[in-house]
Amino acid sequence: MADQDIDEHSGVETTGHEWDGIKELNNPLPRWWLIVFYISVIWAVGYWVLMPAWPGISGYTKGLRDHSERANVAADIAALDEARAEATQRLINAPSMQAIENDPGLQQFALAAGRSLFGDNCATCHGSGGQGFPGYPNLNDDAWIWGGALEDIKTTIAYGRRSDHPETTNTIMMAYGRDGLLPADDVSDLTNYVLSLSGQDHDAAAAQRAPQIFASQCAVCHGADGSGDRAQGAPNLTDAIWLFGGDRATIYETIWNGRAGVMPAWEGRLSEAEITALAVYVHSLGGGE
Ligand code: HEC
Ligand code: HEC
Repeated sequence: MADQDIDEHSGVETTGHEWDGIKELNNPLPRWWLIVFYISVIWAVGYWVLMPAWPGISGYTKGLRDHSERANVAADIAALDEARAEATQRLINAPSMQAIENDPGLQQFALAAGRSLFGDNCATCHGSGGQGFPGYPNLNDDAWIWGGALEDIKTTIAYGRRSDHPETTNTIMMAYGRDGLLPADDVSDLTNYVLSLSGQDHDAAAAQRAPQIFASQCAVCHGADGSGDRAQGAPNLTDAIWLFGGDRATIYETIWNGRAGVMPAWEGRLSEAEITALAVYVHSLGGGE
């Protein structure tokens, strides 16, 4: 260019841009920077050719390598399902629930599957370790409302209790006070009687007025001695383990307002193999019979 402008101090050509007397020098870009820049351009072109890169109207350029993380995951899952299918089939075909526990390999498979199913489906109500909450039974102890044998547990899980399944059991604890089946005095006497059954502090005079009422109103479900009846899901009232609570106020509340805890049915929502695995898992928690 004719009007080339050389900066006096550095001796470098300027771009001709000037602001308030400050001139812009026309230094070349550093060589290392240019090399990295051209390599990046080449890399990008190679990447577009080999890998999925450009969005289109319908879909995207797949690239020569036809790489897809989604397809890789699907293939991994299919491989896992195939590996599991055989064990799943053996779970369904086992001659009895006990046979599963007698086969260490199959039992391990059931426990692993059961543990993860429990976390997904049961832990919200029964706690992550099956420890339970008031109204939601502890599945780790020896006290069973509906039975702790493998078959009992499986029946509870498959059909639920007081659930919407046609095969479920429906006995409830009635609201003796609220529905006027018993006067408040009787509810109070029975509360002391129930406290006495489990050896807790109680009003002895009140408790002594109750055995007849208990025999006529309560024994049909809870047994003459209060030890419960699993066929009806009536809890044992003589031990220290309570579904709803064993303190005076909670026992009174139970007899007054009744109780009807719902264990949902899983048949239809979980497969036969999944229900079997869950039963084996729950049975292993500590109190299995
Ligand atoms: C919506 C809450 C809820 C969910 C979810 C739930 N349960 Fe229950 N479960 C209950 C209640 C409530 C009871 C007690 C029913 C009663 O009062 O008799 C119960 C009872 C049981 C019992 C009987 C315990 C005994 O002492 O006899 C077993 C076993 C059981 N559940 C296992 C499971 C398993 C396994 C799952 C997951 C597939 C599950 N539950 C999911 C609420 C739930
Ligand atoms: C028709 C059967 C039936 C009769 C009769 C009955 N109960 Fe119950 N009772 C149950 C059932 C079932 C439960 C558990 C309810 C649940 O799990 O939701 C229960 C629960 C209880 C509980 C709570 C136990 C706990 O672990 O928290 C107490 C206390 C109780 N009953 C006392 C009585 C008394 C006292 C009477 C007599 C007035 C009586 N029941 C009559 C069926 C019965």
